[in-house]
Amino acid sequence: MTPVIKWRQRLQEPAELPGADEIHLWQTDLDEAPATGGILFRTLSSSEQERARRFVFEEHRRRYLATRAWLRSVLGAYLNLSPQAVPLAANAHGKPCIAAEANRAGLQFNLSHCDRRALLAVTAGREIGVDLQGVLRDAAWPAVAGRCCTPDEWEHVHVLPPAMRAPAFAEIWTRKEAAGKAAGEGLTSRIFSIAVGPANWGRIDCGGGLFVWSLPAQDRFAAAVAVRQSL
Ligand SMILES: CC(C)(COP(=O)(O)OP(=O)(O)OC[C@H]1O[C@@H](n2cnc3c(N)ncnc32)[C@H](O)[C@@H]1OP(=O)(O)O)[C@@H](O)C(=O)NCCC(=O)NCCS
Repeated sequence: MTPVIKWRQRLQEPAELPGADEIHLWQTDLDEAPATGGILFRTLSSSEQERARRFVFEEHRRRYLATRAWLRSVLGAYLNLSPQAVPLAANAHGKPCIAAEANRAGLQFNLSHCDRRALLAVTAGREIGVDLQGVLRDAAWPAVAGRCCTPDEWEHVHVLPPAMRAPAFAEIWTRKEAAGKAAGEGLTSRIFSIAVGPANWGRIDCGGGLFVWSLPAQDRFAAAVAVRQSL
């Protein structure tokens, strides 16, 4: 079944849980978070605070704090917990998840951030992955494409007029990354070898219960979401 994608805008508590066939998508502008760094900091767990301390650049630290505080607020609304009380854990590849003992609803989430934007996907009962990327400048993308595209994807990108190649590759790249994140492993050579192109606005079946979609592009950003269903 193709899940229904529902954009969520306003944080209401308690938030309505995603239905069995739904994906909830949230996005935020990290630079619009209130400039109350101390409050954001206290919202985080001790390991998140430790990570925040390690950022060299203040802008990166501020955006990390804003991302984590926002993530905790949204998940807390679903779980009926305060942001601080949301128990976050991670799988063996570092994919964050809600600790099992607090997750009777089987909520799954995944987060992507790029510059000042963040995108969060939430679902129930199946693994999820999301990716948001700025379209790489013309000089930068061919080297990446050469390493991660299948021959058909590479061909698809190169027959396009030059101005369309970078955006077409960004769609393929975000689908691969979303698929890798839904699979829980991130970007690996196995994920690079999975075909997710050419351009197609419908559901792409990657096999093994893994499905991926591109989301409508915004400005110079591409985005994709993927789910992994139990077979
Ligand atoms: C996960 C990965 C795809 C992120 O790519 P990216 O383009 O740099 O970043 P994005 O903004 O799209 O996603 C980052 C978010 O994905 C989530 N994430 C981290 N590891 C993940 C994984 N294995 N699978 C799915 N999601 C993951 C986190 O929420 C992270 O945000 P945070 O760092 O603020 O907590 C990439 O780092 C990767 O492939 N990692 C491989 C796994 C790995 O090496 N883990 C190290 C620990 S063993």
